[in-house]
Amino acid sequence: MVNLISLCLFLSFISFVLRQWMKPKSSRKLPPGPRKLPLIGNLYRLVGPNVPHVTLRDLSKQFGKDLMHLQLGEVPAVVVSSAEVAKLFLKTHDLDFASRPRVLAGDGVFYDRSDIVFCPYGEYWRQMRKVCMTELLSARTVRSFSYIREDESHRLLDRVRSSSGAGRPINIVDEVTTFMTSIITRAAFGKIPNRTEELVKVVNEIMILASSFRVADAFPSWKILHFLTGQNSRMVKVRKETDEIMGDIIKEHRNNLSSGKTGSGESGSEDIVDVLIKLKDSDSLPMSITDDNIKAVILDLFGGAVDTSTTTTVCAMVEMVKNPRVLAKAQAEVREVFKGKGRLEESDVEKLAYLNLVIKETLRLHPPASLLYRENKEESVVCGYTIPPRTRILINAWAISRDPKYWEDPESFKPERFEDDPVDFTGSSQFKYMPFGSGRRMCPGSSFGLANVYTPLAHLLYHFDWELPHGTTPHTLKLTELHGLAIGIKNDIFFIAAPPPTAA
Ligand code: HEM
Repeated sequence: MVNLISLCLFLSFISFVLRQWMKPKSSRKLPPGPRKLPLIGNLYRLVGPNVPHVTLRDLSKQFGKDLMHLQLGEVPAVVVSSAEVAKLFLKTHDLDFASRPRVLAGDGVFYDRSDIVFCPYGEYWRQMRKVCMTELLSARTVRSFSYIREDESHRLLDRVRSSSGAGRPINIVDEVTTFMTSIITRAAFGKIPNRTEELVKVVNEIMILASSFRVADAFPSWKILHFLTGQNSRMVKVRKETDEIMGDIIKEHRNNLSSGKTGSGESGSEDIVDVLIKLKDSDSLPMSITDDNIKAVILDLFGGAVDTSTTTTVCAMVEMVKNPRVLAKAQAEVREVFKGKGRLEESDVEKLAYLNLVIKETLRLHPPASLLYRENKEESVVCGYTIPPRTRILINAWAISRDPKYWEDPESFKPERFEDDPVDFTGSSQFKYMPFGSGRRMCPGSSFGLANVYTPLAHLLYHFDWELPHGTTPHTLKLTELHGLAIGIKNDIFFIAAPPPTAA
């Protein structure tokens, strides 16, 4: 009798295994991809000198031109490298892929993913996204920060003047980073708090920890690995520092509000932290928020704004200095539009049609968010392939915007290519160009980001002539990318700035 039961159990086990084995082969076809090694899958393929978007582009050419499946340790991933397939994920099936991949830093640093960038798709994300669009980054709010941009542009010019007056080359990466950090700090906190330097260091560390190519993120269930790789201790440290610094800032803002002030902004107006505190205290949101949620959103604004806008501005300068024809044309335009005016008004910056093309082309060659991240909750089928639940979707926006299939002479910097091309910054109609992403998770800070890029560029072009220091040529000028949540610039870049021969 016992033997009979054992035989039955054995046979049903075998039939279960066979059914499971047969099922994926017959009805669930994964996208093509390289062969997987046991345990680590294709993780080893990402090790190398290149940044991930370059490695993934090269792998895709070999193993899955439009759509490629990778196994990153425990995590399935799909890489999208064509505009046509990107459209399927970002438009046709946008709702199915509206979530973000779960990475350790989302939970450990971004307050259990209660920010906007890492937040899973759902009610809370919709609420916070709406707050972002209508209260924190609306067109009106972005305009209200124009005095900060103006003021910081003058500080930037003073720093450039004092370096160039002393005959020193300018480190454009440092100067633009200081400019962007000051803009975001003043917009968020109303001033530059004493602990800004500490905060910037913490945010830089967070940007690295949050990139989803950390080994620990490939093995979410291997807790021991999170300790051994140091990911856990680094996260605990930055979380503690963030808590302390942001806690102080929120406390100071709350004191100001309870003493009867409208806000902690420079002329007593509201800054972003004030707006969030008021929303929290008024209980007007359908889902109530905590101080930790406020900290998470502020981290997003820093993380989302500083690196992206700095990289764009620096890359635009680098490309122009490397292409003197473009630099001369952009300068001629700025000097013509502002001729005879004492100062550069932001409203006039909108008239700079050629600078607009320069920025578009910069974002094509150097999209600071080179990969767009998505995740699906349920199993989905795209292009006839099965995408298992919780697959990490990596849309290689960088590869698509350099693909010769969509762009003539794609590696060259040619702003004029956008003259007749209807594609706008949001690229919404054509998925060959997506510097701000696309679909539900598209960047809510594009107007703020662009304003922060146009203004310093217009000022730098108007007030100085630019060239490479002696001994550097366009070919030896190095621009090394640092892969984090967004692409930063790893190396210093020096330029010589000189006042134009005749006062512009
Ligand atoms: C040149 C500047 C910028 C560029 C190129 C840029 C680019 C991007 C991209 C590509 C995404 C992902 C979109 C997607 O997945 O489809 C994104 C998301 C985001 N960006 Fe930006 N960004 C810039 C500036 C800013 C600024 C100034 C802020 C705020 C102060 C900001 C806040 C955010 C936030 C909160 C998200 C997450 C949106 C969500 O998940 O719903 N960005 N950005």
